[in-house]
Amino acid sequence: MPALRSVRILGTGMYVPPDVYTNKDLEKMMDTSDEWIVQRSGIRERRFAKPGLGVSDLAAEATQHALTAAGLKVSDIDAIVFATLSPDYYFPGSGVFLQNLLGCGQIPAFDLRNQCSGFLYGLNVAKAFISSGQYDRILVVGAECHSRAINLTTAGRDVAVLFGDGAGVVILGPNDDPKRGLLSLHLHSDGAHRDALKMEFPSMRKWPAITQEMLNDTKHYPTMDGRLVFKNAVTRMPEVVHEALAYNQLKPDDVDFYVFHQANLRINEAVLKHLAQPASKTYNNIDRYGNCSAASIPMVLDECARSGRIKPGDLVCMASFGAGFTWGSALLRW
Ligand code: UT7
Repeated sequence: MPALRSVRILGTGMYVPPDVYTNKDLEKMMDTSDEWIVQRSGIRERRFAKPGLGVSDLAAEATQHALTAAGLKVSDIDAIVFATLSPDYYFPGSGVFLQNLLGCGQIPAFDLRNQCSGFLYGLNVAKAFISSGQYDRILVVGAECHSRAINLTTAGRDVAVLFGDGAGVVILGPNDDPKRGLLSLHLHSDGAHRDALKMEFPSMRKWPAITQEMLNDTKHYPTMDGRLVFKNAVTRMPEVVHEALAYNQLKPDDVDFYVFHQANLRINEAVLKHLAQPASKTYNNIDRYGNCSAASIPMVLDECARSGRIKPGDLVCMASFGAGFTWGSALLRW
């Protein structure tokens, strides 16, 4: 068997729709307050895409930025791995929407459904393909249009105030620099908690999948046991960071920069505290974009790469936790 190839991120990109919804805007739609939202989550505003747009449209914009950053053309992409929980259609997947929008030829387009861990799952799938030599450059996408499926009334406030729309992408490719590259990925799931955070309807377990009665009962919106999710996130994220570090025989202090999923500022502060790391070693954009699920990590990566917060050679550790439950970490030399 030929040796596995090393893999690295060749370029990053992100896109958020221009329409900003502040906490004050949400106060006009439901019984909530700026103070509650900021205190509990760290979120101040989020973006919602205009009706008619879908995740593939946001991802196409983000891809153009990543191609420029990588110095590549659309025709250089050999495959798409698209992670989202809010796809354009129930089927086909958003990968083929993006393939068509980009006009990148009849390349394979994979769709992944791993919620807030979707980007790290996507990274692992893409890494395996490139390492084995099957494909050279893969576009890994995390994109969400959460605004389509949140209940923007008081009945849905516990979930609705947390989420936003956005897209983040990376282009992954073979690495010719021995000092750089993706070192490891560790992924997990625990379906015993599948109901802790879910959008159940339309349900292919029901016949019909959706009824007027279900709509009247607002069953088509997501539900969450926030405290249970929080408790598991602050345990699992440090755990999976330690797993990555132990695998690479490293310690938390060896990491130059931590990139965490953006679900709640308090979660990320607790994870850093657990790792005994200073706030200067991470970056959060949840205050401006809310929780963009699969898009959150690549959006942070893009902002940090462009601003110089993450520099070539930095040891970067990413970690996520979300519905499923699913969680994971990735370690790389940028
Ligand atoms: O990315 C996917 C993973 N998701 C997460 O990681 C989210 C994890 N969970 C959390 O981040 C937190 O649990 C939340 C931010 C969702 C909630 O914070 P909390 O401190 O756990 O609040 P709570 O759910 O215990 O609710 C406290 C109170 C309740 O009122 P009572 O029962 O104490 O009278 C809620 O009804 O806050 C009320 N509440 C709200 N009040 C104003 C819930 N949502 C709102 C709201 N505005 N939007």
